[in-house]
Amino acid sequence: MIAERLLKAMNDQVKNELESYYIYLSMAAYFHDMSLDGMAHWMRCQAHEEMNHAMKFFDHILDRGGKVILQDLAQLKIEWASPAEAFQDAYNHEQFISGKIDELITIAREEKEYASEPILSWFLDEQVEEEATSSKISAELEMIGEDKSALLMLDRELGTRTFPAGSSLDPSAYNE
Ligand code: FEO
Repeated sequence: MIAERLLKAMNDQVKNELESYYIYLSMAAYFHDMSLDGMAHWMRCQAHEEMNHAMKFFDHILDRGGKVILQDLAQLKIEWASPAEAFQDAYNHEQFISGKIDELITIAREEKEYASEPILSWFLDEQVEEEATSSKISAELEMIGEDKSALLMLDRELGTRTFPAGSSLDPSAYNE
């Protein structure tokens, strides 16, 4: 049975991951609105990953005999001044999430909840990757500045990210 303190923190993390899903979907809408469909596609792929993250915690709570309690989601932001600002926000958000994973690991260790260490370790690795990716794109956008043709090239590159098969965020999956 999962310790009460960790259960509360994991339920909070389900909310954090669902808010991540929500903010990346919001960024996808922003990029579609700007006709930067490659960046919108990248954000839709990222939103898909965040829903998976939320469900990993959701299922882990159940597997450990806990009760999942869903919470209200905040609409974190809907507009950005530029693509660079949106990706900088993505990087900031991933740093915030990494801090939450660190807190979960601290609680799990204090509560001697060793059965939760493998999943938290998976999230540690995942956060290293997510911070690195969003930081790199953010830095590239800073270099691009006002160069529209370089922006379109990056948009095309980000449009090549692949969806996991059958993702509900992939228009080609539900338009068949
Ligand atoms: Fe699930 Fe991007 O943190």
